[in-house]
Amino acid sequence: MKQLVIRAFGDADQLALVEAKSPTLATNEVRVKMHYAGVNPVDAKTRAGLGWGAAAIKDDLPWSPGLELMGTVLESGAEVSIHQAGDRVFGLLSGGCYSEEVVAPANALVAVPSSVNDEVAAGLALAGTTAWQGLTVHGNLAAGERVLISAAAGGVGHLAVQLAKDLGATVVALASPNNHEFLKELGADEVVDYHDRDQVRAIAPVDLLLDLVGGESGCQLLSVVKPGGRVITVPTITADEVIAAAKAAGLEARGMLKDNDTQQLAMLIKAVAEQRLTVKISQVYPLAQGAAAHRQIETGHTRGKLLLQGATD
Ligand SMILES: NC(=O)c1ccc[n+]([C@@H]2O[C@H](COP(=O)([O-])OP(=O)(O)OC[C@H]3O[C@@H](n4cnc5c(N)ncnc54)[C@H](OP(=O)(O)O)[C@@H]3O)[C@@H](O)[C@H]2O)c1
Repeated sequence: MKQLVIRAFGDADQLALVEAKSPTLATNEVRVKMHYAGVNPVDAKTRAGLGWGAAAIKDDLPWSPGLELMGTVLESGAEVSIHQAGDRVFGLLSGGCYSEEVVAPANALVAVPSSVNDEVAAGLALAGTTAWQGLTVHGNLAAGERVLISAAAGGVGHLAVQLAKDLGATVVALASPNNHEFLKELGADEVVDYHDRDQVRAIAPVDLLLDLVGGESGCQLLSVVKPGGRVITVPTITADEVIAAAKAAGLEARGMLKDNDTQQLAMLIKAVAEQRLTVKISQVYPLAQGAAAHRQIETGHTRGKLLLQGATD
């Protein structure tokens, strides 16, 4: 089987397509033919040697990126009863999804309803889980509250806009003007161009800021959070900086790291099947063109999600 790996940290050209042996199957695992793998900013940051992802794998190179996939079960270990050969599944893994075949714990994966297409399922797990946990588990968003979502047109943001709206919040979405119509269609109550400082200042007050950009941008948005309001800063690399600035401003603030919760995945895919949640897939690249996908995610201006394509049969 073919697999994209990095042998050293560096730019997108470090991604090399290699022939690899499919791993042996443990009794609690399934072998999955990958149809699509999600491409996320963390894949590119880890490839570049940055953040918690790189720290975790620095002694395990070569390494294959990819934290989410959709595919078909090829075979199941002896103790597995939840997924059988032929089942369509999706989910979050700890790496290695940029591979034609992936071996994964059966209980990490969730069935894909027949009404949900392969691409949509592949783009849902990481961004959907992050959006849901950021808004609810960490952000405690309640109906009637006003939430500001930065990077609202991106992978996490476009799902967060819809989930926040579904929770009964008033949603203020930050994006470049070319994404405003897209965000209104997803249900945003107000859309604001983050390049216009006066417009941004006029957003105040919000109960909750879901900061999906971090760093200087996260710090600048603190001034629109109401006194005693809440801040969830999602990019981990700059979390300490934003949390310190928020606390100094008298706000409640925390970072987060998404957790793999299959009940939440089942809830999210049900929302997609019932057409209450839309996953925008903006581009699909063949597995061999992983470097191009990484260059695109590194622009910081992707609308919705990017995928790598494995097998389609
Ligand atoms: N902690 C965790 O567990 C976790 C999980 C998932 C993601 N993350 C992190 O969360 C961040 C967002 O992830 P993602 O997948 O949604 O990223 P993404 O899809 O690459 O986000 C792209 C979006 O960012 C917007 N953007 C760029 N600069 C901006 C700015 N200064 N202000 C407002 N929006 C801006 C762009 O908007 P325009 O094109 O409209 O300009 C674009 O739509 C990344 O840093 C990622 O690593 C963390």
